[in-house]
Amino acid sequence: MAHQPTRDDRFSFGLWTVGWNARDPFGDATRPALDPVESVERLAELGAYGVTFHDDDLVPFGSSDAERTAIVERFKKALADTGLVVPMATTNLFTHPVFKEGALTANDRGVRRFAMRKVMRNMDLAAELGATTYVVWGGREGAEVDGAKDLRAALDRYREGIDTLAQYSEDRGYGLRFALEPKPNEPRGDIFLPTIGHAIAFINTLEHADLVGVNPEVGHEQMAGLNYTHGIAQALWQGKLFHIDLNGQHGIKFDQDLVFGHGDVLSAFATVDLLEHGGPNGGPAYDGPRHFDYKPLRTEDVKGVWESAAANMRTYLLLKERAEAFRADPEVQEALADAAVPELAQPTLGDGESYEQLLADRSAFEDFDAESAGARRGGQVRLSQLAVEHLLGAR
Ligand code: GCO
Ligand code: MN
Ligand code: MN
Repeated sequence: MAHQPTRDDRFSFGLWTVGWNARDPFGDATRPALDPVESVERLAELGAYGVTFHDDDLVPFGSSDAERTAIVERFKKALADTGLVVPMATTNLFTHPVFKEGALTANDRGVRRFAMRKVMRNMDLAAELGATTYVVWGGREGAEVDGAKDLRAALDRYREGIDTLAQYSEDRGYGLRFALEPKPNEPRGDIFLPTIGHAIAFINTLEHADLVGVNPEVGHEQMAGLNYTHGIAQALWQGKLFHIDLNGQHGIKFDQDLVFGHGDVLSAFATVDLLEHGGPNGGPAYDGPRHFDYKPLRTEDVKGVWESAAANMRTYLLLKERAEAFRADPEVQEALADAAVPELAQPTLGDGESYEQLLADRSAFEDFDAESAGARRGGQVRLSQLAVEHLLGAR
């Protein structure tokens, strides 16, 4: 079946996604917490290839060394039994009250040192389990009160933290690549590195810039009113799309973490089209895990959890199929040509042409017919309608 996920699709899920017991700021849990081993087994059955985790998703905060060892061994056995891999791991630097004012950027230096140690400890485990990507989501790195934070010092400390962790990975031979996950707000009123653009600009100041990229989440960019597909396109263009968090969101509001495609579905179509067809010769532009960071709705029981996990993968595969049909449609190719889309790949200056030659080219300016160029047909609505028709299965 075309929409049945296989390992080759490289779908992965966080333990915290399916495992969420649906406690929210207003209400108690509506589901039991899941045993990570059960999550591994069910995800493998459903066709996922990978599982990811925060340290505390697997080993509860405050566990003894003996408890930790037992939990990790049991998890490793489940991985071996199912063949699921751990492509990515991350650290919980947000739940415990110790992080209420920040972690790597907390005003309290002791908290920053504790946060650094907590990350290093889980990096040891990540490397042991074969992870190649380490995600850093700074949910508590931010502020509600501007005067309560020296904003530039916070960025200094953020840089110090990331560079130190990257150095640790290098020295230990872990070979991890770090992926910073932007988010504009929630839980902090304003989070540092709020968008893909902020994160990439920050990364360029790092000593270990080459080891650090981004992990953009659909809903996080959309919470800022931004175009997710444009954001990941820039990350790809800068060689910084190290990982991806796919989910759904309805515009500028709280972080909904819906199933992928259950928010702005036309944007999801454009995202899959880019990931699968944005590369050279129409091939994939991204070859990393297709990672879902969603939350099964609070209304769902455990059966609904697994239905929603399957829904993420099926929706991705449906969108992939629709994007393939869109690209293969001769009318789409004609509409693309009509809208001059391929022409943008052609450099503005000719091969070896200097700006002096541009200045000397009368056809570029003096004789250029701006009126008729301005009156030329756009053809963009036609392209948009063709995308909608393919998406709706009308073509
Ligand atoms: C969120 C974030 C998290 C991170 C996760 C990985 O808004 O809650 O998306 O889910 O992805 O903590 O570090
Ligand atoms: Mn989110
Ligand atoms: Mn995320």
